[in-house]
Amino acid sequence: MDDLAYKTLEDYQRAKEQALTHPSQFWAEIATNFDWHRKWDTILEYDFHKPEVKWFLGGQLNITENCLDRHLKTQPNQTAIIFEPNDPDEVAQHFTYKELHSRVCRTANMLKAHGAKKGDRICIYMPMVPELAIAVLACARIGAIHSVVFAGFSAAALAARINDASCSMLLTADGGYRGSKVTPLKDIADKALKSCSTVRHSIVFKRTGLEVAWNPIDIWWHEAIKDVDDNCPAEVMDSEDPLFILYTSGSTGKPKGMVHSCGGYMVYTAYSFQNVFQYNKGDVYWCTADIGWITGHSYIVYGPLTVGATTLMFEGVPSYPEYDRFWEVCAKHKVNQFYTAPTAIRALQKHPVELVNKHDLSSLKVLGSVGEPINAEAWHWYDDHVGKNNCPIVDTWWQTETGGILITSLAGVTPQKPTYATLPMPGIQAVLLDNEGNELADENEGILAIKYPWPSIARTIWGDHERYKSVYFSAFPGYYFPGDGALRDADGNYRITGRVDDVVIVSGHNLGTAPIENALNEHPNVVESAVVGFPHDIKGNALHAFVIIRGTVEDANTLEAELRALVSKTIGPIAKPDYIQVVSGLPKTRSGKIMRRILRKLAAGEYDQLGDVSTLLNPEVVEEIKQNS
Ligand code: PRX
Repeated sequence: MDDLAYKTLEDYQRAKEQALTHPSQFWAEIATNFDWHRKWDTILEYDFHKPEVKWFLGGQLNITENCLDRHLKTQPNQTAIIFEPNDPDEVAQHFTYKELHSRVCRTANMLKAHGAKKGDRICIYMPMVPELAIAVLACARIGAIHSVVFAGFSAAALAARINDASCSMLLTADGGYRGSKVTPLKDIADKALKSCSTVRHSIVFKRTGLEVAWNPIDIWWHEAIKDVDDNCPAEVMDSEDPLFILYTSGSTGKPKGMVHSCGGYMVYTAYSFQNVFQYNKGDVYWCTADIGWITGHSYIVYGPLTVGATTLMFEGVPSYPEYDRFWEVCAKHKVNQFYTAPTAIRALQKHPVELVNKHDLSSLKVLGSVGEPINAEAWHWYDDHVGKNNCPIVDTWWQTETGGILITSLAGVTPQKPTYATLPMPGIQAVLLDNEGNELADENEGILAIKYPWPSIARTIWGDHERYKSVYFSAFPGYYFPGDGALRDADGNYRITGRVDDVVIVSGHNLGTAPIENALNEHPNVVESAVVGFPHDIKGNALHAFVIIRGTVEDANTLEAELRALVSKTIGPIAKPDYIQVVSGLPKTRSGKIMRRILRKLAAGEYDQLGDVSTLLNPEVVEEIKQNS
């Protein structure tokens, strides 16, 4: 797989040229590095107007044979996964490729024994234990479509996702450890399942020993797996068969189930992993994300395993038992590539630098950042104290929808520039557009768009292709529209400036404001609400909720607590607003549309940038909100 990587700037530039002149051929050459049961007949068919994207048509494969079986021939005893538990006193586990293969096959047989088959949707709601990665791969082994739901989501959010995809099975755990907390996952799942009629089996992994209620559809994982063997031939999948669904929030209340397909996703995640991180055989690579997010899917599980890497999975949080846990783990496992989020860096930066310096970080070669723009201060702290000014930093821009990293530097190969994601990967045709959809030249600022498909672009939204079209392909016909703004310097480097829609990135989590507003509106005293983001020095952005209340507020603290609890129950704790302000009205246009731009300025305290408010239906509320902030 080393062949996939550009080792020099010249290699990279040559690839970029090739990708521009013969774009589909470029990807076909990369795709020949993988194991296919049948080679494709057609490299690419696409039409962004329909929209439709299909890669490697007629090709057949199973991604798990690429992640596992083929490494058995060359490196069966190489460590595939290192598991670092939440509690530092619990022993870390190492799984070789051979062991991982065996466990995935047994788990796949366990799923089959409970009726799972190709095309079924299986929901996975689990903590960051090895069995989570194993479950993902086991689904892929038998061609079942996995839908991993982050274990911080509430029962209502879990139920909505299970029902949207009509999942026939749930894989969960009794509980999950995160720092000093234990999340009662089975209990939450039980609440969700009350409204999920399609789930026939719920297989429960025992992690914490928490006491749990037991229902007729429940079965313990350790019992279900007892009687199965590890012989499980991989299901042969068409390149365009769905591999998984992963939900992301959007501008309406309903989560979007992004559908990724087998062939293209495999090719792009492996290609990008190898190039961005410049992984060398035997290196230990650690991505701190949760497998419940796309970063975990692409760059803990599929990308690293496809290239035969050693990937570290961490169950805990950066602050437990102390704020040096990341650095302790880096030193303990001699991590070579470390990939985390700006939020984590900003939180750790607040603590004495001694917590970093006391650990031997000399193994580190590459640092990565993902999920939100990284500010200059955090970038330099990361560079100075973690990388000791000796490790390239890759600031990787991408999305759940893109499947893999699209804009980034390649560690040590292409130049980095603090706070800039820098250049599109070879094969990625990024452009900047103005509001009318005209391409902007040279140094400029505008709306980011991509004008040619890449293999891991999501193919549709589960059950709602029209929405896929309207969200990503209608704003600027002929382009994929990611919803981000960006600026470009004279050398072509991109700096992502933030969302241009009603999605707010809080601590690296992508949160649509509409579902939060829907949750607030459920409160019997709330008439209307509007949620916007405002800058926050650790989380990047935080949420400010403006609410109109029926009658008078008797006890503001109780109301706030009730509203936060409602959001937590409907979506999950990550979506709780930091600030809740009761207002008598919301600034609206004459046609009744809430002026979110003005609310954003008010929430940020940028009163001098409100612009002309006189054309509003109710300009007086702006003054009132200002006075009461
Ligand atoms: O706004 C961009 C921001 O995160 C969004 C995608 O969120 P999600 O689908 O949850 O995936 C996150 C992990 C890939 C993007 O539209 N974003 C992601 N990476 C960066 C970023 N913003 C700036 N710089 C980045 N490196």
